[in-house]
Amino acid sequence: MASGEIVTVVGANGAGKTTLLKCLAGIQPVSSGSIVFRGETLTSVRAHARVKRGLAQSPEGRQIFTNLTVEEARALMARPSCLLLDEPSMGLAPILVAQIFDVVKGMKALGVTVLLVEQNAFSALSVADRGYVMETGRITLSGSAAELIADERIRSAYLGI
Ligand SMILES: Nc1ncnc2c1ncn2[C@@H]1O[C@H](COP(=O)(O)OP(=O)(O)OP(=O)(O)O)[C@@H](O)[C@H]1O
Ligand SMILES: [Mg+2]
Repeated sequence: MASGEIVTVVGANGAGKTTLLKCLAGIQPVSSGSIVFRGETLTSVRAHARVKRGLAQSPEGRQIFTNLTVEEARALMARPSCLLLDEPSMGLAPILVAQIFDVVKGMKALGVTVLLVEQNAFSALSVADRGYVMETGRITLSGSAAELIADERIRSAYLGI
């Protein structure tokens, strides 16, 4: 991902989105492959050390800012950083959901890179620059957010349009 980019991962329940984010954050071991962040291989680097390098995760369904940990706050100050957001709008009223997406856009404006997983794929693709489609643990499709929103397969499978 490029600095300041918003990238989303779209996929059905159980596709492996949360697992991917946990692997990137270092709270779940990877079974294969490697994690490279800003030129450094982090695969065997512990989670807290990844945070110090500017890679912060907001766990599944936990709202950004309201539950920001000290480590996450540090990560936000150490720009440029990358935030891994796993369903930040989960359980929120629509007006607050809109605010979450505004916050994500604001982060981009600050140069923060965001990897966003959202149940609402349409909203996620609407704020994202690029997206990936994940099926049973594998990336099956990728493209610009505009391409993915226009793709008939994505529209019927994930956007309900
Ligand atoms: N690459 C993979 N290979 C094998 N199993 C995987 C892989 N990724 C995830 N799994 C397994 O699939 C299950 C569901 O994964 P996960 O919770 O990451 O899905 P999710 O896409 O976040 O779903 P939801 O939309 O419901 O949050 C977990 O039991 C996980 O261990
Ligand atoms: Mg999940």
